[in-house]
Amino acid sequence: MCGIVGYTGMQEAAPILLEGLKRLEYRGYDSAGIAVINGNEISVRKVSGRIAKLCEITNDGAACPGKVGIGHTRWATHGAPTDINAHPHVSNDGKFAVVHNGIIENYLALREELINKGYHFESETDTEVVVQLLEMYYKGDLKSAVMRVSSRLQGSYALGVVCSDAPDEIVAIRESSPLIIGIGAGENYFASDITALVSYTKNVIYLEDGEFAQITPDTVMIYDLLGNPVSKKVQRVTWDVQAAEKGGYEHFMLKEIVEQPRAVEATIRPRIRDNRVVLEEEGLNAEFLRGIKRIYITACGSAYYAGCVGRYAIESLCRIPVSTELASEFRYGDPMVDSETLVIVLSQSGETADTIAAIKESKSKGAPVLAIVNVVGSSVAKLADFTLYTWAGPEIAVATTKGYTTQLALLYLFALYTAGELGRIDEKTYRHMLRSLRSLPQKIQESVDLNPLIENYADDYRDARSIFFIGRNSDYGAAMEGALKMKEISYIHAEAYAAGELKHGTIALIEEHQPVIALCCNDTVREKTMNNIIEVKARGADVLALAEKRDADIISIADRMLWLPEVEPVFAGAVEIIPLQLLAYYTAKARNCDIDKPKNLAKSVTVE
Ligand code: F6R
Repeated sequence: MCGIVGYTGMQEAAPILLEGLKRLEYRGYDSAGIAVINGNEISVRKVSGRIAKLCEITNDGAACPGKVGIGHTRWATHGAPTDINAHPHVSNDGKFAVVHNGIIENYLALREELINKGYHFESETDTEVVVQLLEMYYKGDLKSAVMRVSSRLQGSYALGVVCSDAPDEIVAIRESSPLIIGIGAGENYFASDITALVSYTKNVIYLEDGEFAQITPDTVMIYDLLGNPVSKKVQRVTWDVQAAEKGGYEHFMLKEIVEQPRAVEATIRPRIRDNRVVLEEEGLNAEFLRGIKRIYITACGSAYYAGCVGRYAIESLCRIPVSTELASEFRYGDPMVDSETLVIVLSQSGETADTIAAIKESKSKGAPVLAIVNVVGSSVAKLADFTLYTWAGPEIAVATTKGYTTQLALLYLFALYTAGELGRIDEKTYRHMLRSLRSLPQKIQESVDLNPLIENYADDYRDARSIFFIGRNSDYGAAMEGALKMKEISYIHAEAYAAGELKHGTIALIEEHQPVIALCCNDTVREKTMNNIIEVKARGADVLALAEKRDADIISIADRMLWLPEVEPVFAGAVEIIPLQLLAYYTAKARNCDIDKPKNLAKSVTVE
């Protein structure tokens, strides 16, 4: 996720901007830049790579004199992490500079319109349309130009704008992306994240969607998008920098769990237009899909489990056979793939060694590769034939959460898109599934709202020696991911079993008080899993069951329940995993584990 920061006051702006950007480093970024108004000119410095490099080329800001400026850390989305794609972006006439956090969804149409009007573009970013639109609409009043521009933008944005005609002023505008104004004495600030501000001021105004601020050293005026003044309360922040980095949460993992509705929304929303899933801009089309006879999904760890869950959605909606395989097995298994096999790889980091090897193996056999990946410009994204990005933003906790659910969201989108393009489902079912997919962020939110209840349950597991997770079909996939979450951060032995397999051996391990977590969210196999719950109960197990509210009869056989929101069974995996992430989190917390950095684990596994 990008970070933005701005300053206007009596001090030199550049050192303050650089300091603010350093405070945003923890969020992850791949390039950074600043723009400072110096007299009637805007000077811009930007680099791919670290902020240290930006400090070096600006002599810690001394080489960019001026008292008004904006800064940016970029997490690449549209276009690779290069110097040119780094922000700030400048208008053709050099009068405006812009920093942007978010995604402009209609940028392609706007870019074409601007090119037809004679504007030229330097970068591949969605952001550059904003700065050229500003030049186009500017008639001597920055505020009016910003209002005109915002009426043309679709998507999410927090923007900071400076104009050389208004040398002590910044305009900052918010739509679906956080933006905070910092109030000082004779100096004011803005930032996307409170972390960038707390060492300068604790007095802040939180902008809401559709509001913008006109900021000078002595005044902060807030307006709605029609230009009407809005009166806002100045609030006092009590967080220190460390608390601010985690958004007030105790751990990044909890923050990232809570961010999932938004991350899934950001992944799904831009790909649904006019009641259709649209993946053509990312290279897919009906003709290509018609040539595909089977699919392999391959990945590591949680990403592999996302594949295990997503497989059911693809098979059930598209009726194409799908096999899921661990990338570390696939790469050495002489896989039977060819030009009629689509290989889908999933990776949050895009740098996992076994996943990269699986891509190379597939390509050497002529199979097309589709990557679902979070990091733009990563090795996986570069090697694949098609790339669908999960817009989860940087994930900092080692144990993945929002990386996993956004991978699932993309597999669901892919399944529905393919089913629609190949005519494998009728229009009525398509519409129904699309509605259900659109409601997924809300359902995930309802699942996140179980947080306080799960915190209470965690005490019951803190001293467990081992926990079993059971389920069938997509519930089994979720059980595997739930067990992985539990073992990697709480260090409790946890195993997932396909519920129907219990009788074939594992049930020998079930004894009095053995904790079992049963997933009963997939309607099609619910009765069968209920029978398995009865079997383990008969041997004394202590069962926590996860089921939808409509399945009230499960309460008579389980010891405890977590009721989940109702969701289309093929998409249930993205909802049922949330309580399991939370349970692992609170169990690990009760055991005083180092949750964000579990022992022996690394965020990105770049070696075999
Ligand atoms: C577990 C976890 C790992 C990763 C795996 C693949 O919480 O994060 O199992 O899912 O190492 O990593 P990526 O997705 O970066 O390829």
